[in-house]
Amino acid sequence: MWGYKLGIMGGGGHIGLVHAACLAFLGYRVAAYDLDTAKIKSLKQGIIPLYEPGLEKLVHEGIKTGLLGFTNHINSLRDVDIAYICVGTPALPDGLADISQVENALEELVQVNKGPFIAVIKCTVPVGTNRKLSRRIKDIGLSHKISIVSNPEFLAEGTGIEDFLKPSRIVVGGVDREAVAKVAAIHTPPSAPVIHTGWENAELIKHASNAFLATKISFINEIASLSEAQEGDITIISKGIGLDPRIGPYFLEAGVGFSGPCLEKDLLSLINQYNAAGEEAPILKATLYVNNQRRRQIVKNLEKALGNLNGKNVGVLGLAFKPGTDDLRDSHSIPVIRHLLSLGTVVTVHDPMAANEAKKAWLMRQFPGILWASSPYFAAEGKDALLILTAWPEYQEMDLDILKQKLARPILVDGRNLFKRVQMEEQGFEYIGMGI
Ligand code: UDX
Repeated sequence: MWGYKLGIMGGGGHIGLVHAACLAFLGYRVAAYDLDTAKIKSLKQGIIPLYEPGLEKLVHEGIKTGLLGFTNHINSLRDVDIAYICVGTPALPDGLADISQVENALEELVQVNKGPFIAVIKCTVPVGTNRKLSRRIKDIGLSHKISIVSNPEFLAEGTGIEDFLKPSRIVVGGVDREAVAKVAAIHTPPSAPVIHTGWENAELIKHASNAFLATKISFINEIASLSEAQEGDITIISKGIGLDPRIGPYFLEAGVGFSGPCLEKDLLSLINQYNAAGEEAPILKATLYVNNQRRRQIVKNLEKALGNLNGKNVGVLGLAFKPGTDDLRDSHSIPVIRHLLSLGTVVTVHDPMAANEAKKAWLMRQFPGILWASSPYFAAEGKDALLILTAWPEYQEMDLDILKQKLARPILVDGRNLFKRVQMEEQGFEYIGMGI
């Protein structure tokens, strides 16, 4: 197996880079290709363009052993046995996933690699895409040289390396049994169950997994609304529900809702696939509706405490879509900040990871009015209220005495339920959580 040479299309992106680094760590020779020359240039020097715990170390190790190489010359993939396609599938204006990057990646490969090789589709693509790509390859008379295997990734940001090395399951779909078996054999720890199946099942397993996670979050958020109205505590309710092994404790944290580059985009794409098939998707639509409602609710919570937000000074803690990442793609913080600014609120933002210079510049172009704070305490200084949008552990560890002194009014609106209401009230805060 280790004799195989592997290629990664989209090797500078989150999924591609984690795959490249982990596969080199497992002993394979890996060529990570990306069109973004600036990214490749810095990766060659061991500079990682994104934050993922443990990734930098693995990339450095891979470069050192010589097993991991970065390239922007597609020719470097002319002799790979297996090419992992890890490019983006962004949402089109109608919500359906745009697979043009997948198609282009495959075309580029076909031009340089005479085969036989296996193209592994890692990215989340609409159901039917693998079959469509395979048919196209057959039409140009290359099906004897190229096999398409669907092998969806289930990596969450912040735990990407662990998710790769210790997967909960391996899903491999395709019609070429030998190719499917080869892909599964690349990396399947003994503890991981393997599902060998067809393309469509593999594609739907990926979509349904993300949709289910999103639905679980919206479900608990819906319960949180009633809990809020009845003075319940959603954190205790979640615990009580999650102890039932049939339900499980994960993805039951109520708050401002889910966001990020995957859950919402994949849900939208799935809804559009139903629409295209003339089918309804009421649960999925409700999941999205509840999620959008949570973003409006947090602004209402702020209004509950401050009245009209025009001219009010608010510190916002958290830009990243979740802790453990610097990723701002489709983060809920962006629409919430946009809403606040539209109401005339003066917004000062802090994030421990997602406020590097490049991201600041990007955000400033969208919201020229926002101010920046280098610590949560600076974000609180002289403010009418503090709003928590991302569950960074450092926010939970803030010194509440200092925080109270810094704030002009001790109001904490918490979109991630990091504190207990009683504790905060004892400290002299007006505390508004979500469902507590
Ligand atoms: C997700 C899937 O988990 C992963 O398997 C898939 O491959 C890619 O999409 P990711 O987008 O990295 O991973 O984030 P995830 O951990 O799923 O969280 C998504 C969003 O849901 C975040 O905004 C998070 O804060 C929110 N969330 C998560 C909640 O609001 N409550 C929860 O209980 C869990």
